[in-house]
Amino acid sequence: MTADASAYVKACALGDLEEDTPKRVELGGVPVAVVRTEGEVFAVHDICSHANVSLSEGEVEDCRIECWLHGSSFDLRTGKPSGLPATRPIPVFPVKIEGDGPGAAVLVSVTQES
Ligand code: FES
Repeated sequence: MTADASAYVKACALGDLEEDTPKRVELGGVPVAVVRTEGEVFAVHDICSHANVSLSEGEVEDCRIECWLHGSSFDLRTGKPSGLPATRPIPVFPVKIEGDGPGAAVLVSVTQES
């Protein structure tokens, strides 16, 4: 299936993202954690797959976001948990950057999982 360009919506500006500091946004009613790390921007579902906890309140390290409650961490590229107690992956959403510099738009599509 080809990506529908109109499915991408602006989450924030690139300059709004601090390295390794997740930013929570709501896109079409979907809570999303946007993370800038290791020279890339990732977007994942902001709720842990183990319980109703906001992942954007956790820490980012080695391209993973950690759930602060019980310590499972999720790969920002695949959504897969590192280990228990979470066993299910979280959705990962495709990201596009439009423009240049800090004012560039970070676009996320929550209608498709990458
Ligand atoms: S709520 Fe996230 S690991 Fe338990």
